[in-house]
Amino acid sequence: MVQIKEFEVEKWMDENEGDAIHNIAETCCSSITLEELQQLSGADSPLAFLDPKQPMTYGPIRGSVALRTHIAEIYGAAPISADDVLITSGAIHANFLSLYALISPGDHVVCQYPTYQQLYSIPESLGADVTLWKANFSDKWAMSYKDLESAIRPNTKMIILNNPQNPLGTVMTKEELQKIVALARAHDILIHCDEVYWPLVHDEHIQSQVPSITELGYDNVVATGSMSKAYSLAGIRVGWLVSPKKALIDLLASVRHYTTISVSQIDDRIATLAMRPDVRRKILERNIALARKNKACVEALIAEFPSVCEWVTPNAGTTGLIRLRQKSTNGGGFIEDVSFCHNLQRETGTMLVPASHCFGAGKEFVGCVRIGYVCSHEELVRGLAGLRSYLAQYFVD
Ligand SMILES: Cc1ncc(COP(=O)(O)O)c(C=O)c1O
Repeated sequence: MVQIKEFEVEKWMDENEGDAIHNIAETCCSSITLEELQQLSGADSPLAFLDPKQPMTYGPIRGSVALRTHIAEIYGAAPISADDVLITSGAIHANFLSLYALISPGDHVVCQYPTYQQLYSIPESLGADVTLWKANFSDKWAMSYKDLESAIRPNTKMIILNNPQNPLGTVMTKEELQKIVALARAHDILIHCDEVYWPLVHDEHIQSQVPSITELGYDNVVATGSMSKAYSLAGIRVGWLVSPKKALIDLLASVRHYTTISVSQIDDRIATLAMRPDVRRKILERNIALARKNKACVEALIAEFPSVCEWVTPNAGTTGLIRLRQKSTNGGGFIEDVSFCHNLQRETGTMLVPASHCFGAGKEFVGCVRIGYVCSHEELVRGLAGLRSYLAQYFVD
């Protein structure tokens, strides 16, 4: 039997989402309806993108050319064409395929941390030796290039990145990525970059400075992406793998045959419409505006409770970590995040994610909860109202 750790964040969502009244734990930008997609695209009806006469065959195995062409277009500065894109059932499937196809027992891999647990638990389950490349809280969760450099070994096979990053909401800019690429090139290391939140960069100072890893002139890379987060369409379960290196895409396609024949043809049609350049642009504009507006609400709540809450303001993606303290009459130490989240949800209906439990048992995340703040504005306001009343009742002296 495969030896694999529980995927804690997905387990938490599974066990708690059903009872949540105000879900501010979700990582997708507020999901759109088919009716909204119709309005954004100017289609005649919410189902205009479906052809009732289309036979429901498997369809094109790698995904339709139209969809893969639209996806290739988002990697503007990279030499990516439809042939370099493979459609998958979400980025979770894309990540799995890349890690499964490319890592062997005894390989060493370095994985950015914290991140989506899949990115280090799958390599571990495959028998790889995993070094976590850790963000530094005392330096606004910055990643130290020196730490990465010293983690490299002669048998390092892969550097695994997540940019923009979940749960911290931080990004590595072009300059930082270029250093990583130079290091990988010097040691002939493959880079896998989970870009499921890209290009959702809402900090205006760096908005234009965060390229895809495929755009930096290094072929030995695999990027994964998805309709779920930046494009608000998690329900269609469409993601992708991209690489400028043909041999990598061919290998990934061979391994993919064992897990997927094709994705749903209906999902493919919906994704094709949403990724049409004019529609895609409108969805991204909507989500960047929503992220900015909602982030300001979270900042306002944190400012109301200066002795209780702190965070490093996220500049991209949909999530951030808030660190919380007990009131001083209770010792003023960090909260215990699992019981905090359970009690908060039971008393107010507001759902959050306990970070030390879901993002590794490292001491770094003690007292932290993850908030997903790019849900609908109304949901966020209601969720924050629950959190506000709970903090006022139990955490203020
Ligand atoms: C970093 C990261 N990668 C991948 C996924 C999976 O996304 P998808 O819905 O595209 O499978 C998630 C979902 O939360 C995520 O946060």
